[in-house]
Parts: sequence; C-alpha cells; structure tokens
Amino acid sequence: MFPSKRLSAFVAAVLAVAANAQSSGSTTTSTTSSAASSTSSAPASSAMSSSAMSSSVISSTSSTIPPTETGRSTLPISSYPFTPYPTPSDPPPLTGVFPSASPLNPPAVSSDPTIVPDFGPAWAEAWSKAQALVSSLSMEGKVNITTGNFWMGGLCVGNINPISDNGTYFPGLCLQDSPLGVRYTDFVTAFPAGINAAATWNRALIRQRGAYMGAEFKAKGVNVALGPMMNMGRNPEGGRNWEGFGADPFLSGASAYETILGMQSSGVQATAKHYINNEQEWKRTQESSNVDDRTEHEIYLAPFLKSVMAGVASVMCSYNLINDTYACENDRTLNQILKTEFGFQGYIQSDWSATMSTLSAVAGLDMTMPGDITFGSGTSYFGGNLTAFVMNGTIAASRLDDMATRIAASWYFLGQDQPGYPNEDHYELVRQMGASSAVLLKNNGVLPLKNIRSYSIIGSDAGPGLLGPNGYSDRGGDDGVLAMGWGSGSDQFPYLITPLEAIQARARLNRSSVNWVLNDYDYSLVQSTVAEQNVAIVFVNADSGEGYINVGGNLGDRNNLTAWHGGDALILAVAGANNNTIVVTHSVGPLIIEPWVDHPNVTAILWAGIAGQEVGNALVDVLFGDWNPSGRLPYTIAKNASDYPSEPIDGGAAAAILKVDYNEGLFIDYRWFDAMNITPRYEFGYGLSYSTFEYSKLCITPVANVDSYDAAAIANWEAGLPSPWGAGSSTAFWLHTPAYTITFDLTNTGAYYGGEIPQLYVHFPTDSGEPPSVLKGFTNANLNPGETQSVTISISRYDLSIWDVAAQSWVKPAGNITFTVGASSRDGRLYGTVPV
Ligand code: BGC
Repeated sequence: MFPSKRLSAFVAAVLAVAANAQSSGSTTTSTTSSAASSTSSAPASSAMSSSAMSSSVISSTSSTIPPTETGRSTLPISSYPFTPYPTPSDPPPLTGVFPSASPLNPPAVSSDPTIVPDFGPAWAEAWSKAQALVSSLSMEGKVNITTGNFWMGGLCVGNINPISDNGTYFPGLCLQDSPLGVRYTDFVTAFPAGINAAATWNRALIRQRGAYMGAEFKAKGVNVALGPMMNMGRNPEGGRNWEGFGADPFLSGASAYETILGMQSSGVQATAKHYINNEQEWKRTQESSNVDDRTEHEIYLAPFLKSVMAGVASVMCSYNLINDTYACENDRTLNQILKTEFGFQGYIQSDWSATMSTLSAVAGLDMTMPGDITFGSGTSYFGGNLTAFVMNGTIAASRLDDMATRIAASWYFLGQDQPGYPNEDHYELVRQMGASSAVLLKNNGVLPLKNIRSYSIIGSDAGPGLLGPNGYSDRGGDDGVLAMGWGSGSDQFPYLITPLEAIQARARLNRSSVNWVLNDYDYSLVQSTVAEQNVAIVFVNADSGEGYINVGGNLGDRNNLTAWHGGDALILAVAGANNNTIVVTHSVGPLIIEPWVDHPNVTAILWAGIAGQEVGNALVDVLFGDWNPSGRLPYTIAKNASDYPSEPIDGGAAAAILKVDYNEGLFIDYRWFDAMNITPRYEFGYGLSYSTFEYSKLCITPVANVDSYDAAAIANWEAGLPSPWGAGSSTAFWLHTPAYTITFDLTNTGAYYGGEIPQLYVHFPTDSGEPPSVLKGFTNANLNPGETQSVTISISRYDLSIWDVAAQSWVKPAGNITFTVGASSRDGRLYGTVPV
C-alpha cells in the first residue's frame, strides 16, 4: 500500500542525500561487522542457508522447530566462543556532573535535566554479587534462570522458578505487564496511557507516574515490570501506539528516561520494549521491518539509548524481523548495538514466544519468555536444548554464565535481594496527569466554562459501558468512555469516573441542569435534547490494541483514522442544533477531523487521549478552568490519512514474511509534513492555553567543560570528526552532558495562571539529509498573569549530531546549525545559531 500513496520523487531525492543511510543488514554490513569485531568475540554472523537450521543439533526438539521461511536469515550451527562484552569504562568521578547513582536513588527530576546519572558503580557492585551467585550454580541452575517456567506457569505472565542449587537459593522472578499499571489484578491504579504521559510534556509528572507504577508492581510482588513501551508511532493506525510516547524520538526518549528512573526508584526492574521496529500489529511475527542504519539510530533506537542511560534492567526483543533477521536472534541489534555500542549491562528477554532458536543465545538473547516455544507446547529453545548446546560446545559455557549473571545482576541492581513494600494512593496523580495531557485544539472563547445554566452531554463515550469498566477481557471492547486501549498493555480499572458522572457532580455545585443522550445514532433525540441547552458537549472516541483481539474488525491496528460509533455524524448532528458545541475526543491517536473541525458551531475541541480511571474528573478540571490546559500533541493530526508517510502493511500469504520497508527513513510524522510542505490540521507540539505567552531575549552559551576528561573527544567532535565505535561509544558522557545552554524570557501575557511548553527545534544544514526541523529539547514553565521568567533548555553534543553510518559514529554535520524556540513544531518564536 505504501508506494502508491506516499513516496514521492522529492523524498527519494532526500533519501539519496541521506544515503549515507545505507541499508544496514541486521547481521551483515561490512562496516558494522568489522567495527564489532574489534570489541567482541561474537561471530560476525552472516546470512545462511535454511539447511543449516534444519540440520540443527537440537535432536530432542527438531520436530518442533518451524521451517525457515523465505527471507529469514539465521545463524549457522558452529561453535561460538564467547568473551563477555566490555562494559563502558567509567570516567573518574566528575564532581557535580555525573554523580554515581543507584537506581533506587536517581538524580532529582528537572524540567531541564543536566545531570547524566552514572550507574556504572551500581552495576559493578551488582555484577560482582551476581558473579558470586552464578558461580555457585550448576549448569542446570544457570539454564533455569534463563528459561521461563512456561505459559501460565505461575502468578505472573512470565515466571522464573525459584532455584535451590548447591546450597544457593535464588527466589525466582515474576514478570508482569503492563506499561500503564499492573495487569490482571485488583486494587491497582489504571494510569493514563503512555501517549497521555507524553502529551503532558512534563518530566516531573512522567517521573512520578513511573515511581507510582513501580511502587504498585513492587507491592504486588512483581520483580520485573513489562514496560515502558517505546515503539515510535510510525503508522498513525498502529494498534499499540497508545502504549508508547508518540511519534518523535526525543519526546519518546525523554519520556522513557523519566519513566524508567521513576519505576526503578521504587525497586522494580523496568523493561524497555519492544526492541525494535514493531510498528504494526498485522503479521507482527511474520514481518521484516527493513530499516537503514541511520534511521535506526536517529529514530527507533533513540528511546532505547535513553533507557540504557536511565539504567534500565531489562530489554524485551520484539516479534518481528529486522532486515530479515528475527529481533530475538539479531546479532546486530542485540550484541552489537545494545550490549556493545550502548554498553547495556542488564539482560534481554524475549517477547512472549518471540524466541526462534537456541542460537538466539549467541546473538544476545539472555532469557526466553514465557519459556515454551509456543504457548503450552511443553518444549523450549532454552531449557534442555540450551544445556545440550552448551554441553556439545556449540554455545560457550562462558556465554551461559554471562546470561545468568546479567539476570542476577539486574536483580541485585534493584536491591531485590532486600524486600520492602510501599503503600500509596495514586489516583490524584492520575487526575492531574489526565488534566495535564488534555490538548486544547480549538477555543472560540467558550472555555473555561462559566455561568452555564444547562448542559447537554452527548455520546456513548460520555458515560459508563453496559458491561462495566472491565467487562471485556483485556479491555477488548469499545463501550462507554474510552480510558485505555486493549491487549497486554492494559490493566483492570479499580473504578472509572465517567465524564457524565463528573460533570453532574460539578453541575450540582453550580446549580446547573444536565441532560444527556448516550445513544450515538438517535439523531432526532440528540438534536431535540441539545437544542434548548446553553452548551452541548459531544464525546467521540477511537480505539486500538494488540492484534490477538479483534474489536469491530480492527485486528489491533486501526482500519482507518475516523471516529468510532459514527462519531463524525454525531458531532454534525449536535452542531446542527446547538451553536455552542464542544467536542471531546478520547482517541488512541490521530483522527481525521475535517468533517467538523471548521463548523462554526463547533466552538471548542479538547483532545483528551486515554486518561485512565479518573478520566471524568480530569476533564472537568480542564472544562471548568481549575486546570489551564498545557498538553501538547505528541503526534501530527493530518487533514487526510494519505498525508502521513506510512501506514500498516496488510495482506501477505499465510506462511510468507511480509516486507515492510521503512522507505520514509527519518521522515516520520511532522518531519515528513515539513519536508513535503504538507499543511497539517494541527501540528506536532501544538496545543492552546487559556492564557497567552510571549517569548523574548534569546541567548545561547557554550557550557564550560568542568573537567578535562574527554577534552580530546570533544575537540574531535567540534572538528566534525567521528569518534571510535566501541563499548559504550553511543552512551559516552561527553556526548550526553550539556554542551550549550539556551535561555530566553517567557511572559504570561494573558489573564490566567498556567503552564507553557517551550520547545526547541534544531535545523541541520540542508545537505546533512536531516528533516527541516527536529525536536531536541523542551521544558515546562508555570507563570502567573503578567509574570516573566527566565527559562533554560540545555542541549548535548548528541542532540547536535547525526549518525554517520560509514564511521559508525555520532558526528556534527558540516555547516551552520540553527534552531528555533517556539510553542509547537510550526509556531517558532525565537531563532538562533549554535556557535560551533
Ligand atoms: C506483548 C508484550 C507483553 C507480553 C506478555 C506480548 O504479546 O507483545 O508486550 O509484555 O505479551 O503479556
């Protein structure tokens, strides 16, 4: 479907410039394998014939090994020596800049983070404890720590059995979904989804959400929380986009970073997922996402790199293939990039049943989940097969030690050998985040609501579902207010405050009347109800989720970008009968809103996302002005679905592997609209306030190096030269500490107290192949009417670099780098040049 509608000659030209962005085979590029060979003893894997796999030595399970599909590259059977990957060498302690941090006590949150935590010492301590533990285990004990106890084998969705071996005891691990709360249990919070967390653009709230979720996981006895999720929303229809943090790598990276620092400060291990390029639900286990190395580094890897910097304990490899190699047996993405280039010191677990071979272990997989080859098969690629592979010398015993040590080290890293269980009330944050993530798209002066005597509330999305909040398994139904998508990314609602309930509670205080119609299709009743009222608030939604549940013909991914339950017609019916129609959407992602956005009677539009259990209260806070909206769009709302650069690819023969070429490269979401000069309806980063803000007095200052450490690397970078690829090269401190401080004045020129989200967009030289504008910083500031504040946004050398595929390095492109500070990706207010 992609080529017919989306790729143009222009983009082909742009991509040619970026052809530095050569196709990096997941396992085979000469550049990358030679780079890897200097630091790792892992085999440079190459494409192999399918016969190598079928001649597998896994005699005990050979009948259960699936045939190798066309287009799938796998590792040949041979012997694989192993030397553990070097961990990044720590700099000497740098006072005030990189304080050694325990994940239980991370640096305080800041709207302009300037401190890069150094988890090196905490990892080193955890590793030495883990090495002692693992050295006392038998081979079976080591294998057991890497192998889930099979589907439904324990209380969690994934479980490692307790191990009692040679007098050593390891209590096992419990791994549980989801990225927005603890799945499959009661008395937990249904937090706003990841997409709402990102829409707040507020690091403090995102950190707090992470900490509260972490505390709940821990209180339920979970060791490993299966989130956050950072797929990039490449396709607006992508079924699981709402679990993640939107369509920009910087915003997603910042959100992942704060979420992980928060979760792990509560003592639970976080899992960065799904690694990587799992951007559609259709055929997710049989699609090869074909991505060039530059796009991979600058877009899809970015939030995973930030996760590693946040000290994430675990990474989950995804179901799909990357450049023809399955994600969980992909030497390039697992060993070379994650463990070497990023210096990741935790462990890689498979998505559920995403392990495709025993040899995945040599490609970097450390743990198979839930343990069996297919759910309930009773067989495993690890377990007895891993033991056999180690015993016959195919897989080095030192690699098994490394797998077990990584898993045990993450357990020590989070202090999980020392129990302790917190208890807190978290609904207030849900309400605050719900309000902070609401994006005000249009307001003809009618909001906040004042002096309204009569309200009419229209649409099924305003009220409760007939089956209750948890009536559909894994929330796989769309009935009543939408506050969560469906699938493994969901949890149980402890309760669900609907907009109707919350508005009525407010109306009682204000002595107003409320009428409603929850039937989405009875237009004559709707029109007669709204006709006499001061205001009509109409609710519509759109849902999506994980592909194992089909909701209304949507197999995970959305079939289209229109509102569900005839939402467009319902809005038009209401607007046809009431000249003060306020639209509220609860949508997992963008919708096409052209049928009604410019209707003169549509006086306001509030884009509320999927906000969790306090959705009604959060909405009331915004509608009535208790909270001045400060949410900003974490994706673009287009005028036409065909304006987006890509969509999920469907079809494909049953046994075939679907080719999904990421032809748009770096040009996802707003980057595409900017490059192609397509006017969106509402751009990325957009959102109104009840107040107005003015920007002035821009200044950019280089940050003096506090220590001489890495002065040579910095000078090298400033000269536009690459730095050597190797252990931790992409997470090196000199690359990520602040290099420039951008300051400006912000004044609240309106009548309301409120928050503004200043955003920093960098413009690289045209021949760098970069999109016209890329987000590289944001902050949030709250101001009283008339108040002026000096605001700071810091940027690092990483933020000012592009990925040089040939050199495998972050480099400063030649030419002038300019930037804009503004209120959205298209609302620039101040302009400057980076003095390099
Ligand atoms: C999902 C993961 C989830 C796992 C366990 C898989 O289907 O892709 O995100 O963590 O199931 O429920």
